[in-house]
Amino acid sequence: MDVTHTAEETADSDVTYYTLEEVKTHNTITDAWLIIHDKVYNVTSFLQEHPGGVEIVMMEAGADATESFESVGHSPDARGMLIQFYIGELQMDDRKKDSAKEKLISTSDGSSSWITWLMHAIVAVVVGIMHRCYTKERKSS
Ligand code: HEM
Repeated sequence: MDVTHTAEETADSDVTYYTLEEVKTHNTITDAWLIIHDKVYNVTSFLQEHPGGVEIVMMEAGADATESFESVGHSPDARGMLIQFYIGELQMDDRKKDSAKEKLISTSDGSSSWITWLMHAIVAVVVGIMHRCYTKERKSS
């Protein structure tokens, strides 16, 4: 297959990286690419065979189909089929910033352990104060 593209071939592996711009240009019924989980698939030959119909896949052609692919709840068999159409990876710069999400999750995890620690400290202080008040009251009575 002689495809002219702007992809970068990495020196240390056979992986081909495609830019989002390049993937976007493959959005016709005779040339349809999809991005699913940052991997690029050429699904042209599969379009007519897709059990869910051609149109639905064409709606995602040249774009990131991860959400629609996942929301349908494709079977493990369907997932296994993907490998046949794999042509490369989405370039790092064009990937959705999942790391930001991860960061958020880890921050919220971190802050929740912080809050637990703080709650324990507050409870300890309150119990200490109550204990002091109680012993003071007992002494004065
Ligand atoms: C290369 C990519 C894809 C492959 C290999 C694939 C494969 C399949 C297969 C094998 C089925 C039959 C049911 C199953 O086994 O899960 C199916 C159904 C379906 N697919 Fe895909 N699919 C792909 C992409 C997409 C995309 C991008 C959409 C967009 C929304 C989509 C929407 C659907 C729908 C709506 C059905 C019908 C579900 C049903 O009737 O129960 N598929 N697909």
